[in-house]
Amino acid sequence: MSTEREPIAVIGTGYVGLVTAAGFAELGNEVLCVDVDAAKVERLTAGEVPIYEPGLAEVLESCRERLHFSTQLADALERARLLFVCVGTPPTHSGDADLSAVHDVVASMPASDTHALVMKSTVPPGTGTAVKRALAQQGKPLAYVSCPEFLREGSALKDFRHPDRVVVGDEGDWAGDAVVALYEPLGAPLVRTDVVSAEMVKLATNAFLSTKISFINEIANVCEETGADVLEVARGMGLDSRVGPAFLRPGIGFGGSCFPKDISALKQLAGNSGYHFQLLNAVIEVNDLQKRRVVSKLVKHLGDLVGKRVTLLGLAFKPDTDDMREASSLVLAARLLAEGAHVSAYDPVAEAHARELMPGVDFPGSALAALEGADACVLVTEWAQFTELDWQTAAQAMRGELVVDGRNALDPAAVRAGGLTYEGIGRP
Ligand code: UGA
Repeated sequence: MSTEREPIAVIGTGYVGLVTAAGFAELGNEVLCVDVDAAKVERLTAGEVPIYEPGLAEVLESCRERLHFSTQLADALERARLLFVCVGTPPTHSGDADLSAVHDVVASMPASDTHALVMKSTVPPGTGTAVKRALAQQGKPLAYVSCPEFLREGSALKDFRHPDRVVVGDEGDWAGDAVVALYEPLGAPLVRTDVVSAEMVKLATNAFLSTKISFINEIANVCEETGADVLEVARGMGLDSRVGPAFLRPGIGFGGSCFPKDISALKQLAGNSGYHFQLLNAVIEVNDLQKRRVVSKLVKHLGDLVGKRVTLLGLAFKPDTDDMREASSLVLAARLLAEGAHVSAYDPVAEAHARELMPGVDFPGSALAALEGADACVLVTEWAQFTELDWQTAAQAMRGELVVDGRNALDPAAVRAGGLTYEGIGRP
């Protein structure tokens, strides 16, 4: 199989780059990974995986002979014609996407008409046109394909292997055909379109999913006023095939490296072109407020938070990742400390990152140790070990009895059986 599949290059070995590399290596492609970070390349070459993603280390190990890591673009250019661009596009202070890493890649390209840049990084619509213009100005006739990535952290390999769709935006040339052929064995529905429409599919999808979450969070808040149970409401809504059950889990807001950044980029893009994207403003505002509502719940039960001990269970922006970017725990911890509370926390994987980001928070090293003497605890990230926690033992460790289930992931009966008070999001 490997003899028939063409070698590809992956530029940037972050989340998207490593998963793309692993996925194609698994399909039998030779993958030449290039990164400017020499220390990272050294670690990857030694078989170390710098990020936490279930199953990734195993695939990188089992496909080792087809994966190569280097700081040098030259080897990759010599052997591969498709260059998957997987560099970071973080938000700038203005909320636009920072495309400097993309432009660095463009600047490093040779004057070749046999190579193509395949854009996997999330970029605002119009980037492909701008990159093509820059390439032309530099006398570089490379082809360009937009091939946005839809993988989720925590289930990234599964998402690579079983995508809902593959989107390929191109100018109808050899490069688009070659990218389509690469993904063909996955058997996913194909959306072959122009570059700017492909770019828009990515941002619009993330914006819509964020909207769904903010929507159900607002429904949850109304449920709290009316006595309805939002889980029943979401179930009833989700069975309508026009609504669908996904992304209707209420909680303490969405985080991560994608939704907050992408909706802000789409809002800015619209604003820069003279369009006021009113709905997205509301989605962002609802999400910000949702993170803070937990503080009101704590005050409702505990009164003034000065001197109160609050434990945060889970810190990562979602389970099965060590990613702390835009995590709700950051806002919550800062708010609690500002209210004068003592905050202790535990996360099975993200704690090392979290320590640096959460000055003033205690990290005693385990869930039970973090619960010791607590007046209240908040489930922030629904790791399995918290949903399986023995609440009798937890109750003995705590001094108070309040459990705020920020993800509606706990069994209220099990919590109450431990003699504790359960408070979810949007539940009676
Ligand atoms: C998201 C998209 O789901 C991916 O399709 C996309 O490729 C990726 O962004 C990206 O643009 O790179 P990810 O950020 O990894 O993936 O995580 P999600 O599983 O989508 O969760 C995002 C946030 O929404 C988390 O904080 C999660 O707790 C929250 N969420 C999700 C809810 O609060 N409720 C839900 O019903 C679903």
